[in-house]
Amino acid sequence: MLVTGGAGFIGSHLAERCLERGWHVVAIDAFTDYYDQRLKRRNVARALEDPSYDLIEADLLELDLEELVRPVAAVFHLAAQPGVRISWDQFELYARQNVTVTHRLLEAARKVSLERLVIASSSSVYGDAESLPTGEDVVPRPVSPYGVTKVATEQLAHVYWRSFGVPTVCLRYFTVYGPRQRPDMAFNRLIALALRGEPFEVYGDGEQTRDFTFVADAITGTVAASERGKPGAAYNLGGGSRRSMNSVLDTLSDLLGRSVERAYLQPQRGDARDTAADIARAQGDLGYEPAYEFHAGLESQLAWQQALVETAESLS
Ligand code: NAD
Ligand code: UGA
Repeated sequence: MLVTGGAGFIGSHLAERCLERGWHVVAIDAFTDYYDQRLKRRNVARALEDPSYDLIEADLLELDLEELVRPVAAVFHLAAQPGVRISWDQFELYARQNVTVTHRLLEAARKVSLERLVIASSSSVYGDAESLPTGEDVVPRPVSPYGVTKVATEQLAHVYWRSFGVPTVCLRYFTVYGPRQRPDMAFNRLIALALRGEPFEVYGDGEQTRDFTFVADAITGTVAASERGKPGAAYNLGGGSRRSMNSVLDTLSDLLGRSVERAYLQPQRGDARDTAADIARAQGDLGYEPAYEFHAGLESQLAWQQALVETAESLS
């Protein structure tokens, strides 16, 4: 298995799950500076101890991808420039990392024989969707440049499936959380600030909702997609834990035994108001069933961040 973005939040969990399955894993990651690279080093530490794991530290655009793709059964393409709200200011970076890189990988894939090329897409393709929960056949109407690049990613995948038979499967992840969550994402920020006793900045009135997905569920769906996903298809992988940011703040307050401070700011451009996944297609084709209950999922992210803080304190 080849896992691009293998040192990232989702990719590092995926690589470990593949190793548990007894598969050999080649992970590729450029260790981009979007967030602290030491976190990515931690993410890969456990996998590096496994003799069935190889890490290539390089930019995908600088590699001979055909040579790397030829010997593997399946590719999981998770490398990307994520993050919705900063995508207004850095479109060239998003276009490179999300569109050009995917195109280069598809070009390599069409020259070899893969069982699956699983590609990370996003609930951001829906924008302010016309119906909730949202099925995959709704016309995508992203509200951020990031979402636009993910639509382009999916469209390229479909073109290569139609024209060359590359067995692409696109996965629309819905706001994933849990240990190793990226530091720019809401739960990571919220927990870090709450542990310091500082207020969390809520964008808007806090009543926006997300179909939060625990990372282990996202991984289960991703592995199933490599085995059972229909080539050419896109699947929603939602967590079944749709809730508002205000209710997330309340749950964290319960877990900490004190009220989490918050300050309400203006809504941010590029943020969809609500997301909710219709997962019927993933249930039917992939046997996907999110298993993690929200309270327990948030508790495990909290425990991971508390341990990070303790390690940092013991080093200082
Ligand atoms: P992440 O930033 O933690 O991981 C992405 C990794 O890709 C990083 O480690 C980065 O160094 C690497 N990378 C980027 N460009 C590269 C390149 N050119 N060559 C090699 N490596 C490169 O992000 P994540 O949250 O784990 O997201 C993984 C994928 O899932 C992304 O495609 C993202 O858009 C998508 N996604 C994530 C979420 C979520 O909630 N986290 C939701 C929807 C979609
Ligand atoms: C997340 C990921 O960052 C994207 O990479 C991914 O593509 C997307 O999920 C997706 O599901 O498609 P987002 O939903 O914005 O994007 O996730 P968070 O950054 O965790 O934000 C969740 C909510 O919290 C949003 O409504 C956001 O406005 C809010 N938020 C975030 C705040 O109120 N304050 C903050 O400091 C950060």
